[in-house]
Amino acid sequence: MASIIEASGLKKTFGGIEAVRGIDLAIESGRCVGLLGPNGAGKTTTMRMLMGLCRPSEGKITVLGATPTSMPREVRARIGLVPQEDNLDPDLTVRQNLEAFGRYYGLATADIDERVPQLLDFMQLSQRAGAQVMHLSGGMKRRLVLARAMIGNPDLVILDEPTTGLDPQARVMIWRQLLALKRQGKTLLLTTHYMDEAERLCDMILMIDNGAVLDSGTPRDLIGRHVKAHVLEIDKPLPRELPLAQTEDLGDSVLLFVDEVQSVLEAMPPETVFNHRPANLEDVFLRLTGRQLRER
Ligand SMILES: Nc1ncnc2c1ncn2[C@@H]1O[C@H](COP(=O)(O)OP(=O)(O)O)[C@@H](O)[C@H]1O
Ligand SMILES: [Mg+2]
Repeated sequence: MASIIEASGLKKTFGGIEAVRGIDLAIESGRCVGLLGPNGAGKTTTMRMLMGLCRPSEGKITVLGATPTSMPREVRARIGLVPQEDNLDPDLTVRQNLEAFGRYYGLATADIDERVPQLLDFMQLSQRAGAQVMHLSGGMKRRLVLARAMIGNPDLVILDEPTTGLDPQARVMIWRQLLALKRQGKTLLLTTHYMDEAERLCDMILMIDNGAVLDSGTPRDLIGRHVKAHVLEIDKPLPRELPLAQTEDLGDSVLLFVDEVQSVLEAMPPETVFNHRPANLEDVFLRLTGRQLRER
């Protein structure tokens, strides 16, 4: 299977800040790959280098066979970008934003006229086609940025936090459309802070922090490698009978990770207050990147 994106030894420093410190990536056609990491991990910088919006300090990148900083126009047209910040034109209407972008990408007027209503429909924006962007909700703006990224029918879509700050309905709607794009064979690279989103959409995850990849694999692989299958959140004080091999202290309670839950449940005194759930990607994320706040 051919790689659509290949990067090796990718580094970026801003003054004294090492934002990216040696990332390797290989993304195969048709995959959905998630970059996960706390704020300041280097996700946006990595995406910007892949798009040619920022020159790497070191390393080599090939995207769709081209070097991003000198990408021919026809290759660039095969990539759709959803940047972290919405950069729509607030004075134009929804429809005009799409049309202007289509012209910028050099699409023929007939193609724009055909494509715009399809995209408005795809992102459920048809009813607001004539509304000025400044009057849209956050979720609608995000959907419009996604529609705009699709104007040239790209093979590769790069999405930086496509659902941050949206309500659950808007997130679910965007997930559905991203899964539809995946079914069409498009390659997706996305970042998200929502682990359930990553688990649902991504075939492969790269956990990154401090500009480096901590581990990568399918969500199942990562859960299997870093935590045990079951999580018991147990209120303090902890019963003495319990095995405390893999735990995390949450203050008033403790997370206990175990492969086999039955024997632990049997050992638990009846008055113990606890909650049992399967381990998930968020457990892996917190284990790999820690629980301290990142406010950079
Ligand atoms: N243009 C820039 N100039 C200076 N520092 C930057 C610039 N862009 C990003 N950084 C720094 O690089 C680090 C990684 O940032 P970023 O890639 O935006 O992380 P993420 O998207 O994972 O939150 C941060 O410390 C950030 O402050
Ligand atoms: Mg970012």
